[in-house]
Amino acid sequence: SSPLRLGVAGLGTVGAALLKILDRQAAALAARTGRHIAVTAISAQNRDKARDVDLARFAWFSDPVALAGSPDIDVFVELIGGADGVAYAAVETALSNGTSVVTANKALIAKHGLHLAKLAETKGVALGFEASVAGGIPIIKTLRDSLAGNRVSRVYGILNGTCNYILSRMEAEQISFGECLAAAQKLGYAEADPSFDIGGYDTAHKLAILTALAFGTEIAPDAIAVEGIEKITLADIAAASELGYRIKLLGVAERTQAGIEQRVHPTMVPRSSPIAQVMGVTNAVTIDADAVQELTLVGPGAGGAATASSVVSDIADIARGLRLPPFGVPANALAPLRRAAIQTHEGG
Ligand code: HSE
Repeated sequence: SSPLRLGVAGLGTVGAALLKILDRQAAALAARTGRHIAVTAISAQNRDKARDVDLARFAWFSDPVALAGSPDIDVFVELIGGADGVAYAAVETALSNGTSVVTANKALIAKHGLHLAKLAETKGVALGFEASVAGGIPIIKTLRDSLAGNRVSRVYGILNGTCNYILSRMEAEQISFGECLAAAQKLGYAEADPSFDIGGYDTAHKLAILTALAFGTEIAPDAIAVEGIEKITLADIAAASELGYRIKLLGVAERTQAGIEQRVHPTMVPRSSPIAQVMGVTNAVTIDADAVQELTLVGPGAGGAATASSVVSDIADIARGLRLPPFGVPANALAPLRRAAIQTHEGG
């Protein structure tokens, strides 16, 4: 059969790792999917940055939107980032042209996921976003496919690797918030604008996506009460520790009598609890559901190779011919979110 041709836009930490994995796993992926998977074209802000991958073999597009609209690709892989702007324009262009899309962009899916899913369904193509939540943890497929036989009552967890890395290092090494954040940026975990991480918005984007998958509701990041970790000090961490707790930034979505409630805030968790053991860039997601009772997935929440691993899983599904509704049910059937009253956590 013909090769599956990929156009990859964005060659930062995740994009560069993706090219390496596709090289390394080429034979295994062909064997698994029955198709040869080949990157044919790329686009990036800076062509000459050191990446340790040979780019000369790919067609080069300076404009990602032009790459997205190219008739010579079967899948557009969006690793640019940002909810709007060029990432949105490129993804919409690809889907409108009947080209499948794989993206790691949680901000984009949180804001425009419903519209983009409808577009993909209308065009009969795939929209994959396994990499958009919790890096290498296969949480999208778990909620959408593997747990189809369950009624979910709650989803919660540690969804931002940068924040968990900062909180972990502050506790273990007593070094300042700023120093830990700088280290997370250097390791390639943080967002281009790290206020998305430490302000809790990145967690909120991911939670909004999980809510839609878990409860079959619309994606509503604006309905989430968000508090970040900017104000957490070494003294707070020490005080929590003395009381037998650890501070974690949690995203929580649950069924309540008033509707689905979603919130993001630093939380004191007992040091003996499983979630308190999750340290560093690791993420963890726990699902409470009627059939499985409780299920927790733990794994790398950020980083190039781990996130690229999830990108590859979506590409492999497309190579196999899967064209499922991106949110499990047709996007038109996602129920409006009956918003529970937003509770602030500062007594408001
Ligand atoms: N900045 C994000 C994090 C990257 O730290 O979790 C993965 O989405």
